[in-house]
Amino acid sequence: EEQAGEERFNALIAEDSRIEPRDWMPEAYRKTLTRQMSQHAHSEIIGMQPEANWITRAPSLKRKAILMAKVQDEAGHGLYLYSGTETLGTPRDVLNDQLMSGKAKYSSIFNYPARSWADMGAIGWLVDGAAIANQVPLCRASYGPYGRAMVRICKEESFHQRQGFEILLELANGTAAQKKMAQDAVNNFYAPSLMMFGPPDGDSPNSVQSTAWKIKRFSNDELRQRFVGMIVEQVKILGLTLPDDELRFDEETGTWLHKELDWTEFKAVIAGSGPCNSQRLQRRRDAHNEGAWVREAAAAYAAKMARKTE
Ligand code: ACO
Repeated sequence: EEQAGEERFNALIAEDSRIEPRDWMPEAYRKTLTRQMSQHAHSEIIGMQPEANWITRAPSLKRKAILMAKVQDEAGHGLYLYSGTETLGTPRDVLNDQLMSGKAKYSSIFNYPARSWADMGAIGWLVDGAAIANQVPLCRASYGPYGRAMVRICKEESFHQRQGFEILLELANGTAAQKKMAQDAVNNFYAPSLMMFGPPDGDSPNSVQSTAWKIKRFSNDELRQRFVGMIVEQVKILGLTLPDDELRFDEETGTWLHKELDWTEFKAVIAGSGPCNSQRLQRRRDAHNEGAWVREAAAAYAAKMARKTE
């Protein structure tokens, strides 16, 4: 039976069909998807923090309402992705414990501080922009629940990117001090957003297998270059610049070349010693503890309803 399962799995991958939760799949496929999807979910949840930090300080009621909606969207993405991950067999409380104990990874980018209102713009434009560039191909990931989740998530991410761009556009056309704030924010988030795509291809242990299984459709470097090509045009409309003197289009290879990124910093950030790692995890643990009464009440209510229907 196992052999039949494996043959069917290989055939589905070869014909670009989808693997569904009840289908037979290699344990390593289940494991790497659980890894990637849960890291993705954790990133959405931790990613709420840098922006939540600015909700009470948003410069107008309209900006505040938009930012609140955006942060709520991230919560939705996280919960949606946890549900998707659960279809692979790991319960949510286990995933959550992995995050809170510091065992699980989440995106490096959320360990950088959001210091000014312009950072809300740069996060929307660059961070959500990078997220879209990475996630649009994931809509075609071979695992059905993941690919389908991505369709909706990408739609919401593109609204997030536009709101970030619009914040920067307004600041860039404001006073000299506002324009400087916008430029500083772009300077701070440029390199960290390029690192979101992961290590260079030669240093990406998971890529070969994930590409063979059609979880990944493009390599880390390919997507990074594609993203750079997008923002190179958009930054002109903002009237700002990207902090990269080496940035140029290479006619020969048809790719964008950018400056060397600081991979030592990247490794330190994912190993837990970025500027905000301990703060982010502590906040997550506190929020979880503060929500204990909600979980208890929900469990008591569910038990009561179950008794009623017996
Ligand atoms: N931050 C933290 N960890 C990272 C990052 C990053 N930016 N990039 C790579 N890593 C980790 C990988 O998770 C992997 O660790 P692990 O093997 O212990 O799990 C290790 O570095 C080596 O990287 P790769 O072999 O290249 O890993 P992979 O093939 O999984 O590619 C990538 C990494 C591109 C991030 C992939 O996992 C992916 O596309 N994930 C889904 C998108 C996502 O998680 N986005 C989150 C940020 S966007 C947002 O939430 C708004």
